[in-house]
Order: sequence, then structure tokens, then C-alpha cells
Amino acid sequence: MVKLARKKILLGIGGGIAAYKSAMLVRLLVAQGAEVRVVMTKGGQAFIQPLTLQALSGHPVHCELLDPEAEAGMGHIELSRWPDLILLAPATANLLARLAAGMADELLTTLVLAAKVPVWLAPAMNQQMWQAAVTQRNLHSLTQLNPHWQFLGPDSGSQACGEVGPGRMLEPQAMVEAMIAALTAEAWQPLAGKKILLTAGPTQEPLDPVRFLSNHSSGKMGYALAEQCQALGADVVLISGPVELACPAGVQRIRVQTAREMLAAVEQHLPQCFAFFAAAAVADFYLPEVAKHKLKKAEQQLDSLTLNLLPNPDILATVAGHQQRPSWVIGFAAETDNLLPHARAKRVRKGADLILANQVGMFDSGMKAENNAITLIADDHEHSFAMQDKTSLAKEVMTYLCQQIFRN
Ligand code: CTP
Repeated sequence: MVKLARKKILLGIGGGIAAYKSAMLVRLLVAQGAEVRVVMTKGGQAFIQPLTLQALSGHPVHCELLDPEAEAGMGHIELSRWPDLILLAPATANLLARLAAGMADELLTTLVLAAKVPVWLAPAMNQQMWQAAVTQRNLHSLTQLNPHWQFLGPDSGSQACGEVGPGRMLEPQAMVEAMIAALTAEAWQPLAGKKILLTAGPTQEPLDPVRFLSNHSSGKMGYALAEQCQALGADVVLISGPVELACPAGVQRIRVQTAREMLAAVEQHLPQCFAFFAAAAVADFYLPEVAKHKLKKAEQQLDSLTLNLLPNPDILATVAGHQQRPSWVIGFAAETDNLLPHARAKRVRKGADLILANQVGMFDSGMKAENNAITLIADDHEHSFAMQDKTSLAKEVMTYLCQQIFRN
């Protein structure tokens, strides 16, 4: 059964070597019943002939902005109004930069600027170009300015230039599956009947009745993941530290304060879990003897204070080594430097299947921020998700997990 019947997809092809994969993308979309129109940049045409795309899509390929003949057929504004979705694949560093600057210097950039429909971008470039601060800034501006835009990938691995790292265009099959999920009316519920347990937010470790040790975690990433798991059909239990967020609809929330309470609640809900996400920022230490009364500086002549703290249990490592271990144990790593080496080591040390690594202290990302960027680390591959707001990031991460990981 075709799954994209009557769906109109406009595919924009930028000038990167991954353009050769776009031919396969058109074939797969057409095979799913989609109507596909192709627009190519000058650079795109240097990598693949418009005639190839014309043959595969069954329609003339659009390349020129200032071509009176083309404008008389389907002009740039009409083209921008035609599709249900615009997909830019490959979205090169140059194309992202031009879009971020609002340039309308070619047919493709012009129609994207005029578009009202969702725009998806599949970045493809050399790993150093992807990691360049200016590219990351462009991504950041694009997602800030266009909350309805979505990034697919990039993937990580060996590149056409011989280097290894993030920047590979996502495989056409994965892009088509994501489009089916987004464009078809029937809800996609790959997690139906599965129980998912998450921790989120900070923990608070009391020192006395009015004071505690804690951190800046807002809980937003864990809550966004819980919401997406629920939307994908899972039975979701969210063990939450003290945060200001409303409980997502349909999610069972259990509120805790300390790390030890969090662990007890997790262990209680562990039986029959399919996946466990440790998104909480658990305080590393606690004070074993909490003062019964408020500590008074004057009475106790406190001009300095030494606290004999004990380490908190590691909830992620405990679940990973548990007799009732879920099929998937997924941790986070928030790091200020050496993100990937630290995160890879953390995955092995804690016995997790996957680590979702995020840089904290860069632009507007991480713990308290609205936005985040994540690199997923598995034992055999890594995958980067671009900087974006936490809700759309959680959606991308969960889509990827359901499509690429959970079925293995
Ligand atoms: N974690 C946990 N229990 C703890 C500490 C951390 O479950 N007591 C989980 C977090 O929820 C996260 C992962 O472990 O999924 C990594 O947390 P992080 O704070 O980055 O690592 P730490 O173990 O605290 O290591 P370090 O502070 O040395 O980076």
C-alpha cells in the first residue's frame, strides 16, 4: 500500500556530493505515491543532471529564477504554494548560510523565503564544516526564526571526502519514513503497548528544613521526551524532581525530592519496562544527617561550614545492571568540554545502551535553556540532531529511536 498518495513534496537539491542520493529519494517518494517536483541550485546541477530528476519525478525540473518561460509555467510564488512539504536535501553549508541570511538569490532560496508550508532540511557537508561555529550559528538562527522548520540529521560516519564525523546526509529511506509519519493522518504509534520510564528535573538534597543542594535543571528535556513517548503510544511513567512544569497529558507523574527517593520510585516502576530514559540531573551528593532545625550562624559560631556529604546512588548505572533491566537503557551526558569523548566513556562506564550527549554552556543550549542540540552515541554509530527547541528535538530523537534503533 502506498503511504504518500496525493501528497505533494517539493525537493530542493543543493550543491553537495550527497545530491546523488536525492535521485533515490525521488524514486522512493514516487513509489509511495507522492507527487514530486524538483528544484535545483546551480551547485546541485553540477553534481547531478536535471534530466535524471525529470525522468524520475515525471516533471520538468525547476532551476531558474529569472526565466520568463519557467515563470509563465509555475512561477516561484506558485511553486512555493504548491507543496505540502518542502525538503532540502542535501542542505549544504552554503545553502544554510544563504537561508539564514534571508537571501533570495536563486529560485530555491527565493521560494523557501516565500513558503508557508513546513520546510525540512537534511544537512550534508564535511564534518569540520558542520561543526564550524558559523554553521552552528546559522542552524541556531534558522531554528529560532522558523520554529516550524525541522532538521533531519545529519548522520555521522565516513564521508565522501575520506574524513569521519557528523555531516553525512540521512539515508533516503529514513527521510521517507519521517515524511510518512508527519504527513499521514493516522497517528503513528510504534510504542503502543510499551511501558517507558523516565527521570527528569533536578534532585534536591536537604541540609536543614529550609536549605538544600541542587542544580539548574529545568526538567524541560525529560518532560518533552515523556510527552513524545506518550504521543507515540507508550504508557509513560515520569519520575520528576521539583520543577515548575505541568504534567504532559496522559503521562503518570510521580514527584520526588531526593536522589534516593528518585531511585526508589524508579525501582518500583521498573518491572516490564521497555525503555528507561535517565534525563534527571541527579545531585551527586547528599547530607546523611539533615539538621532538624534551621542552621543558625550565630548560635553555632559558623564562620565556615564543612559538610560531610555522601555520594548518591547512580540511578542510571543501577538500572543498567538491574535484574529487571529494560531492553533499552538511555542516559544523558551534559558536558562543558570534550563532549563526545566524555559521553562515550560515560556510556561504557554506566552500562547504558545509548547516551544522548549535549554540550552545556554553548550559545543558548543545555540545562536551563529553551534549546538544545544532541549527539546520540550508540556502540556502533553516532548521530547528531541540530540545535532546536526541546519539544521539536524530543520529537526528532524519538522518531529516530523508533525508526532506527528500537527495531534492531
Ligand atoms: N545519573 C543518574 N544518577 C546519578 C547521576 C547521574 O541516574 N546519581 C544519570 C543522569 O540522569 C544522566 C547520566 O547519569 O543520564 C549522566 O549524568 P551526568 O551528571 O552527566 O554524569 P555524572 O555521573 O554526574 O558524572 P560527572 O558529573 O562526572 O560528569
